[in-house]
Amino acid sequence: MAVDFKSLAVKGVQGLQPYLPGKPIEELERELGVSNTLKLASNENPMGPSTKVIDALHEPTPQLDLYPDGGGFILKDKLSKKLDVTQSQITLGNGSNDVLDMISRAFLCEGREAIYSEFAFAVYPICIQAVGATARVSKALPTDHTENPYGHDLDAMSALITDQTRVIFIANPNNPTGTWLNANELDEFISKVPETVVVVVDEAYFEYVTEPEYPDTLQWLDKYPNLIVTRTFSKIYALAGLRVGYAVCSEQIADLLNRVRQPFNVNTPALISASAALDDNEHLATCVAINKEGIQFWEAACQERELSYIPTVGNFITIDFKRDAMPIYEAMLREAVILRPIANYGLPNHLRITISTPEENQQCLDALDKVLGSNLGSK
Ligand SMILES: Cc1ncc(COP(=O)(O)O)c(C=O)c1O
Repeated sequence: MAVDFKSLAVKGVQGLQPYLPGKPIEELERELGVSNTLKLASNENPMGPSTKVIDALHEPTPQLDLYPDGGGFILKDKLSKKLDVTQSQITLGNGSNDVLDMISRAFLCEGREAIYSEFAFAVYPICIQAVGATARVSKALPTDHTENPYGHDLDAMSALITDQTRVIFIANPNNPTGTWLNANELDEFISKVPETVVVVVDEAYFEYVTEPEYPDTLQWLDKYPNLIVTRTFSKIYALAGLRVGYAVCSEQIADLLNRVRQPFNVNTPALISASAALDDNEHLATCVAINKEGIQFWEAACQERELSYIPTVGNFITIDFKRDAMPIYEAMLREAVILRPIANYGLPNHLRITISTPEENQQCLDALDKVLGSNLGSK
């Protein structure tokens, strides 16, 4: 009789739903025969990486036969100077997802609990469940909330803390909603969390946020030894294909994360590229400015068309079409534009659009107008 390997897997894994990535361009072009596809599905940076990264990658070829610097010395050195922390407070990851996974493996197991908000980033439940821990999901703020619709409800999150809670995941800003928490509310929240509970503030889109009230969480590391801040090179630094992220926290917690970190988890080209990317503040500023323009473009476009959207501070915007968004997503695919359905987040009427360059934003909007103007897309 054939073996049922599912029954042999650990309990958490048996019930896991795999992460759903955005549709790859090659897949769409193979399936529908379209070309010149615009992929606005995974919050990648359309500006691409800094030319300093490209130059660094063309420098004398790194020795690919040797293992990477497992300690990531050069990158950590640069990061520690830039962020004004010690190298021992930094843990490098194969993308920040890797760091989120390390946090779960270090602090969670069966019988322990982790908290996150409804509509929060989809990797949290995977990390929690994979190690057999219990996820406690707080209701998000109502969709018609005046200040922070769909946002994390910090009171609701606090209310879920029990003696078993070990980790709280907070995405700031959150993906896929683009909602964010200001310094006062987040500070007040963390101040009330027991020190025995690790608070992870996931700042994957940190560099894009220009709101003056957005927190400078690294300043809080001294007062909150239970705080872990995670960031990535996948978004504004445009290195998603190379996989580099990091956590900054107390040296004691970093030591624990490094115990579960796979040796050599960040590869040599990734280390070189991330270090070079940190040298180009000008490119960063250009990307921030283009994104800001893009946010204004999309918000104005939605308002003109009376489309409901969630106000965003990230490099993406989520639109509520007030009806099943799947036919719109599929019609957009036929227009060679890949958007992101987010029914898996409990938002079946919404699509998330990565904010791009002015030309690509317009191209996407034209396609959306065509789709919404057709019978299929009509309101
Ligand atoms: C909120 C949030 N956190 C973390 C990540 C993980 O990014 P990476 O593993 O590429 O660093 C993402 C990616 O989409 C994200 O949206």
